Amino acid sequence: MTDAEKVQFWKKHSYFETLPEDIAPMRRLLTEYSHMPADAVDAHLYAIRDKLWAVHKYPCIGRFSFLNLGMTKSVYYQEAVERLKSKSGSGEGRLLDLGCCVGQVLRQLVYEGVDPSRLAGADLHREFIDLGYEMFGDTETEAGKAFTFVAGDILADSPSPFDALAGSVTMIHAANFFHLFSWDEQVKAAKRIVGFLSDQNSGSPDGISIFGAQLAHRSPGEHRIVPLSPRTRYLHDATTFQKLWDEVGAVTGTQWRTAMSPLKSGIGAALTGNPEVMYVLYGVWRVKDV
Ligand SMILES: C[S@@+](CC[C@H](N)C(=O)[O-])C[C@H]1O[C@@H](n2cnc3c(N)ncnc32)[C@H](O)[C@@H]1O
Repeated sequence: MTDAEKVQFWKKHSYFETLPEDIAPMRRLLTEYSHMPADAVDAHLYAIRDKLWAVHKYPCIGRFSFLNLGMTKSVYYQEAVERLKSKSGSGEGRLLDLGCCVGQVLRQLVYEGVDPSRLAGADLHREFIDLGYEMFGDTETEAGKAFTFVAGDILADSPSPFDALAGSVTMIHAANFFHLFSWDEQVKAAKRIVGFLSDQNSGSPDGISIFGAQLAHRSPGEHRIVPLSPRTRYLHDATTFQKLWDEVGAVTGTQWRTAMSPLKSGIGAALTGNPEVMYVLYGVWRVKDV
């Protein structure tokens, strides 16, 4: 493809004119959690998407990916729900959704019975968090008021709004997040993230610490997937993702085990036109007693 063709391809595939078909779980969340009339949902979603797009043109927004609740099927998500609902111990479950966008995962967790006081969301754009309240209409509800939200840049040094999250959670969901950054930025973000995890995690020695879905690459390395962008981002395979966490472990005095498995979704290739780009589920566990 020429550069011009790549730009055209990217535009066409990063902003959809119509809602995807696979958003039944989000429709249910909006009608049952937000009590929105079913016939008002589509217009509401188009309006919210365009407000988000005006803030920042992430493909996950243009493609309505933030409406896809497919991650609820993953074993890691299901483990998180179980731990978040557990009443045992001193609060075994507390989850941060990092790069939470509108906080759709947090609302889904509450819909599934999780106490919102166990949930936090963080994002670079305060506007996304505010538009999340507009999308779900829960500014004044008990759940809406109980969430903790932090707006800030994960790559910023202290003092930063993220300092408030130190040692505060036992699990972190970070979807479509690491793939935004270069290797060095991912190390910096991951070092920060390690600091958010509390020692309570040791109450569940085999429990997942960090999980999500992201783009990956059959030839791992720094890739420029947005045509003509000066930015590259590091797309992993399973080996380099472990290597990243080895490096993070070495600088934080911790040790980590990772797993990465391809998801059936062809989103990586569909977005970039490159069949080498995959979409994967990943998990990160702390290795104890090292
Ligand atoms: C690609 S979107 C994914 C949103 C959501 N996790 C999902 O899967 O639908 C990436 C999110 O990360 C946030 N983000 C990007 N850079 C960030 C940074 N440096 N610090 C914190 N959040 C950031 C963006 O604002 C955006 O909401």
